[in-house]
Amino acid sequence: MSHVTVPGTRTGLVEPHGGALVDRTGERPDDLESLETLILTPREVSDLDMIASGALSPLEGFMRREDYARVLEDMHLGNGLPWALPVCLAVDEAPEGDRVVLADGSDMPLAVLEVEEVYEYDKEREAERSFRTTDEAHPGVARLYAQQPNYVAGRVTVFTRPEPAFPELALDPAETRRLFAERGWKRVVGFQTRNPIHRAHEYLTKGALEIVDGLLIHPLVGETKSDDVPAATRVECYRVLVDNYYPADRVVVSAFPAAMRYAGPREAIWHAICRKNYGCSHFIVGRDHAGVGDYYGTYDAQLIFDELEPHELGIETMFFEHAFWCRACGSMATPKTCPHSGDDHVFLSGTKVRELLEAGELPPAEFSRPEVAEVLIEAYR
Ligand code: ADX
Repeated sequence: MSHVTVPGTRTGLVEPHGGALVDRTGERPDDLESLETLILTPREVSDLDMIASGALSPLEGFMRREDYARVLEDMHLGNGLPWALPVCLAVDEAPEGDRVVLADGSDMPLAVLEVEEVYEYDKEREAERSFRTTDEAHPGVARLYAQQPNYVAGRVTVFTRPEPAFPELALDPAETRRLFAERGWKRVVGFQTRNPIHRAHEYLTKGALEIVDGLLIHPLVGETKSDDVPAATRVECYRVLVDNYYPADRVVVSAFPAAMRYAGPREAIWHAICRKNYGCSHFIVGRDHAGVGDYYGTYDAQLIFDELEPHELGIETMFFEHAFWCRACGSMATPKTCPHSGDDHVFLSGTKVRELLEAGELPPAEFSRPEVAEVLIEAYR
């Protein structure tokens, strides 16, 4: 079955991107041994799994040239739906046969791909369009430049889902939707993060929750760069934070299995579309969303949404300016809501926070909840 209809109107939840949730799971074929096997990178494995679960609806496989070209050109698929980043499978040369097995790094077969097309692509152009830079020091660009030179496109059927990194937090889009519906939520805000949740993130999520029914805290747990806080540590941070500071009946914490691309603005749109598939009507975009180094301006990931027609995405963005604790206000605030100068603002750089934690010192309570800081100190020890 290629599509399952989701009770969009009946539950009052937002419809999946393209109108229906894709399901590309299926039976393991009998003739696997006779087929050529392609070994996928961790990023490709997570993309594959997200195609299977419908997280990347309406994609049913790795992208064909027409979709790929149009996504790079003007952020739409061939069928006219908005889409921001390539979801492609790189190969050395055209495989033999019209079907191939897709396996993970340990050679475990996961899926079959029906080969529709093999095409060359221009790495510099993809880098420039997706990442706004061709600098090899950018982690997304570096990964792209290290890829094989051709893309193989086609529909996939996944018969073995990869083990989720955090089984207790693994929910497919159909499952988050069911959960939201059971709770009677219609308006749900999704929060992407690849960091521990500090007070600034908490401020965003709670500010957004004030005006919708529920909050999906959706930390990315796929591949990240080596100096990001490991997902296992973060998951413990989310647990202590939510247990102590969030109302259980208004929050769902679940893992987002994607790999980070560090594509800043375009990744913000891509993240929003995925969360729409998980049933979110709203999506938070703060400062330098999915950014790395200083490749992107602070609010570029918000401005890019203006390149699409209003409401074209089918998920509403909630933009937040840079949040901090203000001593004069005695509260969290942003430049939008606080008239005081930077001297009153508690802001720590990532490097500064790391130094404190490595020295076993708690960052100020205005920056991090002590329970979260304790988990991080333990992890750095
Ligand atoms: S990201 O790569 O997932 O974007 P991070 O986990 O740091 O990184 O951020 C999660 C979300 O919170 C993003 O939307 C980001 O823009 C936002 N954000 C992080 N820190 C702040 C801050 N101090 N003020 C406003 N928004 C922030």
